[in-house]
Amino acid sequence: MGRPTESSTLTNSLTVRDNRTGKVYDVPIVDNSIQATAFKAMTAPAAPGEREENETYKGLRVADKGFLNTAVIRSEITYIDGDAGVLRYRGYPIEQLALHSSHLETAYLLIYGTLPTKPQLSVFEAEVSHHGVIHADAEQFCRSFRYDAHPMAILTSAFSYLGSYYGEANPSLQGQSLYTKGDAASLSIMDKQIYRLIGKATTLAAMAYRVRQGREFVTPPTGLSYTGSFLYQMDHLGEENYTPNPVLEKALDVLFLLHADHELNASATTVLQTGSSLVDPYSAIAAGCASLYGPLHGGANEAVIRMLISIGKPENVPAFIEAVKKREKVLSGFGHRVYKTSDPRSFIVRKTADEVFKITGKDELLETAMALHEAAMKDEYFVKRKLAPNVDFCSGLIYRAMGFPLDFFPVLFAVPRVVGWLAHWRQMMLQEGGVKIWRPRQIFVGASKRDYVPIEARPLVDGPKKTPSAIAHSGITKRTMLASFKGKVVPKL
Ligand SMILES: CC(C)(COP(=O)(O)OP(=O)(O)OC[C@H]1O[C@@H](n2cnc3c(N)ncnc32)[C@H](O)[C@@H]1OP(=O)(O)O)[C@@H](O)C(=O)NCCC(=O)NCCS
Repeated sequence: MGRPTESSTLTNSLTVRDNRTGKVYDVPIVDNSIQATAFKAMTAPAAPGEREENETYKGLRVADKGFLNTAVIRSEITYIDGDAGVLRYRGYPIEQLALHSSHLETAYLLIYGTLPTKPQLSVFEAEVSHHGVIHADAEQFCRSFRYDAHPMAILTSAFSYLGSYYGEANPSLQGQSLYTKGDAASLSIMDKQIYRLIGKATTLAAMAYRVRQGREFVTPPTGLSYTGSFLYQMDHLGEENYTPNPVLEKALDVLFLLHADHELNASATTVLQTGSSLVDPYSAIAAGCASLYGPLHGGANEAVIRMLISIGKPENVPAFIEAVKKREKVLSGFGHRVYKTSDPRSFIVRKTADEVFKITGKDELLETAMALHEAAMKDEYFVKRKLAPNVDFCSGLIYRAMGFPLDFFPVLFAVPRVVGWLAHWRQMMLQEGGVKIWRPRQIFVGASKRDYVPIEARPLVDGPKKTPSAIAHSGITKRTMLASFKGKVVPKL
């Protein structure tokens, strides 16, 4: 692979000529991809003045800031054609699944590869439901957060906390091949953690919700669907035979299914990156949860509502669009790294929104959202850049209509995405050839070797980004700063 050659004999290959050396290399193309390691064979002597840190003798590096064109795994789970607006889970179009399937059936499909039979689904649902119950100590853990803690901070920490209960699931304690052996015992341990994580995701999320309301926690009920149980755990206040509204239960289930997986997005990649060190799945899921929290990913549905609130009325939309074009603002809920025409989930979300609004009433921000949508779809700036609404543009409006607090929206994304994270994690653990730790490369552009300079002899380096910033101290009052102390002294900055 990547060997110097006189002339290419392969048809399905790339012929690369290194003009530094005149050497020609054949790089095989497999599944329309080339191995980045093939470029390591392309070595050259350093050019005059070339930095030694470029290490030309070690071969070419492949640079890809932001993973724009790097395939890091072979996957059988989710296929996206961003130009055609296609999304398929294990080959099934998302539209068909949204119409006929349920979140847990889809979870089975994503994780195990096929649609389950009735008995298979029943066992899976029962295991997930059974594992929804949580150790009573988790109550103290959730209560240890401040009343105004962001629920994603609670959820992220809670997944990590959960792992501390399961020593038998920790490769650091049980041996690094715990999940990679692929034998019956290993698979059974792996699947138990999968049931636990999916089952407890709703329980932990409901606890994160209730702790901020000052409510007691609710033991997961039996006999309800996944989303029915979730709604029950958030909302039940002791009423007899409390039953969540079936339209909202179904709508949430559809939204969960739509959010269950989306190929190698930032959080799924984080789960795999973290999991590649063979850490336990609770830590890997916590890392995925942290990644999802960011406003460019799972925080976008919350950002959409904050943006709509800031715009206020439809008549303010043109000014907002102008600010976006001047790059003073970002149009949250628009644009996607992969979808360059339309996000197929956005159509299903809009249909779901209609059903929810029929019983909750329309959200006051809907008109502003529609005006924004219309203006952006007509504007040359967005058309030229192929920026269309993504799944988050409307999902936030549904969550708002359902009465969820804004900062809970990313939680409603993270809970169903646990399924996708686990599907990718399981696939990687069982992949042929075992797991290789994910250790990317860098292009080092920093200082070359230099000698330590004694403090008295150093030139002053000053300026923003080059020195630590001055900060305001919120914890120390003016009175404290003006006081005198014996012994321990508050530094006067
Ligand atoms: C999702 C997102 C991070 C994808 O980023 P990306 O693939 O790196 O795309 P780019 O940032 O290269 O965007 C390409 C161009 O469109 C512009 N653009 C992308 N999304 C935009 C948005 N929401 N509003 C305004 N301009 C946007 C970029 O500024 C860039 O313009 P330029 O080529 O003139 O510099 C980006 O579209 C975004 O920030 N969207 C808003 C957040 C959001 O809704 N996230 C949820 C995703 S499901």
